[in-house]
Amino acid sequence: MAVKEVLVIASMLVITSLLQGINGFSVANETALRTYLFTTNAYDLNVRPTTVVKLEVRFNLLTINQMDIREQVFKVSGWLTVQWYDSRLSWDQTTYGDVGVIFALDTEVWRPALIVSNSVDNFEIIQDEYSPLRIANSGRVVWDPPGIYEVNCEADISYYPFDTQECFITLQSWGYNLRELNITELGKGINTGLYVPNGEWDLVDNYFTIVQRRDIKNDDYSQIIFHFNLKRRSEYYWLNILLPVIVNSILTALVFALPAESGEKMGYSLTVLLSFMVLLTLVADKIPSTSIKTSIIVVYFSFVLILGAMSVFLSTVVLDLYFRDENHRIPAWLMFLSKNIVGRLVCYKGCKRRSKVTAIQSDTNGNVSGLRQGLRNKVYERKTDYKRNTSQEDDDVEEETYTWKDISKILDTFFLWFYLVIITVITIGFLTVVAT
Ligand SMILES: *[C@@H]1O[C@H](CO)[C@@H](O)[C@H](O)[C@H]1NC(C)=O
Ligand SMILES: *[C@@H]1O[C@H](CO)[C@@H](O)[C@H](O)[C@H]1NC(C)=O
Repeated sequence: MAVKEVLVIASMLVITSLLQGINGFSVANETALRTYLFTTNAYDLNVRPTTVVKLEVRFNLLTINQMDIREQVFKVSGWLTVQWYDSRLSWDQTTYGDVGVIFALDTEVWRPALIVSNSVDNFEIIQDEYSPLRIANSGRVVWDPPGIYEVNCEADISYYPFDTQECFITLQSWGYNLRELNITELGKGINTGLYVPNGEWDLVDNYFTIVQRRDIKNDDYSQIIFHFNLKRRSEYYWLNILLPVIVNSILTALVFALPAESGEKMGYSLTVLLSFMVLLTLVADKIPSTSIKTSIIVVYFSFVLILGAMSVFLSTVVLDLYFRDENHRIPAWLMFLSKNIVGRLVCYKGCKRRSKVTAIQSDTNGNVSGLRQGLRNKVYERKTDYKRNTSQEDDDVEEETYTWKDISKILDTFFLWFYLVIITVITIGFLTVVAT
């Protein structure tokens, strides 16, 4: 709809600008001139104008209609401006009542056979039987075939959704080789003067290259390639993909903040995992299933997914410990691990109190080096005599007698911090790699 309108307006603009260029015009004069050029001179449109026809080509971009990274299709609207000289179509302007310009259709004059060779739709010679060719009295022919060009564009999804894509339209001569038809640029090669910005993609750069390709018959032929560098406008993806995933990964960590008594731990962690799966499906829908490169966002999502799955497993362990029978002996290694390593790391039952206890013991032991040994002995004693000497230990260092519940709480706190740190690190890492 909008594209068609733009095309119509653009072609009207072209036609009006063409009409203004006519100096002297009278129907009789122009008819006489056309009869002279095409009938009297027996113009044969199958004969090319010169030995090497120098073709000047420009691409006039109107809109980018689509850049589908999943289908790897790039679709634009615009028109080509093709210009060449045909000496058979030149005349003396004064002879024909000052008529400087005439028009012809592509069924009357020679025109080059051109093709968009990376097209995925309408793979055929560019032609437009209704588009008038503008012929000046110097023999210069200007042809403006409009079109919607749908070309293949290999997308690089590594940095999705902060990606930049480079797509190109390859225009080449068909049938004529390089010694017959030589394509060069007209002006700057690409005209973006009438370009209407696209909502999803920002056109950051455009340029052209001229290359010569050798075909299977060992013939060189001419190509002009119009390049377009597009950068995705990522605002939409922040709100619709990244924010939910980041929030979801933080929620994954919060399962460890949930008390085991609530009885909701398993339900919660499974729900979070499930909602993450749903998010993942939404993203998977948007990125190509076959890709040469791996998308960093997929790696990030996999990490978060693994963390989510692990949280289910770890909550099971924590719950198992929490609901163990208190008469069940705590293995020495687990006691040591949770009290001396993990417990200290997460400051279970307060960091300050522990240092106070240490201070008291350092006083009683007299020196600092003896303290560690003394502590270790104490731990060992308590490990072995844990069950028998509970009454004796009560007044000694009460808070160091850990139960299964304590151990499960220590692990919960530890996992909570571990998850928060890991998620922060990988999220920041992902964002710095992808968004810069
Ligand atoms: C061109 O038109 C003028 C008048 O409009 C006429 O006098 C002249 O003969 C015409 N020339 C040709 C070649 O028809
Ligand atoms: C084609 O045109 C380019 C630039 O005008 C020129 O450098 C090149 O030599 C031409 N090639 C042939 C085969 O005429």
